[in-house]
Amino acid sequence: MAGVKLINVWKQFGEFTAVREMNLEIKDGEFMILLGPSGCGKTTTLRMISGLEEPTKGQIYIGDKLVADPEKGVFVPPKDRDIAMVFQSYALYPHMTVYDNIAFPLKLRKVPKQEIDQRVREVAEMLGLTELLKRKPRELSGGQRQRVALGRAIVRKPQVFLMDEPLSNLDAKLRVKMRAELKRLQRQLGVTTIYVTHDQVEAMTMGDRIAVINAGQLQQVGTPEEVYDRPANTFVAGFIGSPPMNFMDATVTEDGFVDFGEFKLKLLPDQVEVLRDANLIGREVIFGIRPEDLYDAMFAQVKVPGENMVRAMVDIIENLGSEKIVHLRVGDVTFLGSFRSESKVQEGQEIDVVFDMRKAHVFEKGSGKAVF
Ligand SMILES: Nc1ncnc2c1ncn2[C@@H]1O[C@H](COP(=O)(O)OP(=O)(O)OP(=O)(O)O)[C@@H](O)[C@H]1O
Ligand SMILES: [Mg+2]
Repeated sequence: MAGVKLINVWKQFGEFTAVREMNLEIKDGEFMILLGPSGCGKTTTLRMISGLEEPTKGQIYIGDKLVADPEKGVFVPPKDRDIAMVFQSYALYPHMTVYDNIAFPLKLRKVPKQEIDQRVREVAEMLGLTELLKRKPRELSGGQRQRVALGRAIVRKPQVFLMDEPLSNLDAKLRVKMRAELKRLQRQLGVTTIYVTHDQVEAMTMGDRIAVINAGQLQQVGTPEEVYDRPANTFVAGFIGSPPMNFMDATVTEDGFVDFGEFKLKLLPDQVEVLRDANLIGREVIFGIRPEDLYDAMFAQVKVPGENMVRAMVDIIENLGSEKIVHLRVGDVTFLGSFRSESKVQEGQEIDVVFDMRKAHVFEKGSGKAVF
């Protein structure tokens, strides 16, 4: 097994830069997620690691082995990189049984028949496919086919798995199930895995760490908790979490409030200190708070009018059963609250809303960089 390292990797398609200055280290055995919106360079990064694409600049290591470095003229072809890739649109061989589909990569490598049989059965057992080995792909459900595609990748025991949105063509329920299965499987096998998705829920639930990418550029690398609780900038803060974080234009006042014009909220003393150190007192900033850190005052522990509480108009309520997404407005300042289902708020009503200021974030205006 092996880790993967990208050092200052760039990929240019003509004038267009798909990946810029990518520095990323994936540890041996780690489940790393590449997360970002469509077109941000996730697949391109994965293809460079696999050897399907050559970087324009930079170095890629798999374990201790340098596999790509255009400056040194190093380029190891995919077949010599000992990786297995699962694509979004995997293709099974329709005329072959499940058994033969899984066995195929081993047959290609001329592995002895007896060993093939043993490994295919092992993998089938692991993936719950034992009863289906004699079937053809058309006789399987979507999830079962997906598992066969995975089986074909893992039967080789590669050093690294690369997975490009492998669950994206499954229905919602099956995705949830496969998410858990894939994660369990990865733990069991302990193989370094780089998994591409644009789905933040998939990223949060599956990854040991998440690399958030935007416009070809790495924004932050961290555990799901880190990127959620301490986003490095407004992009990460807005991309992870659903409904997304509220961003509100504010001015930091001399006496330690964030002033939105229509109302003010009191910052905690240590937050004021950080803002003072960053020279942001009296300056315009972006205030951020997640909808789940807003409360219907009826259910809030600490409520101090004028400090962490404001009277707001309820515009629209989206009832999700387990929670209510409440669209709130104070004058022309709008924000979302995610309230517990017991909340009795009604559309068109005025209610007291409590902000959990311990969970507040402040970002620099312009750069969007997080201050806290
Ligand atoms: N062979 C190519 N030639 C020119 N441009 C390309 C090529 N491959 C990718 N691109 C561009 O590079 C950018 C990144 O593409 P990439 O496929 O890596 O995105 P992605 O993050 O995987 O997106 P998605 O989530 O939609 O799959 C896109 O703007 C794409 O149009
Ligand atoms: Mg892609």
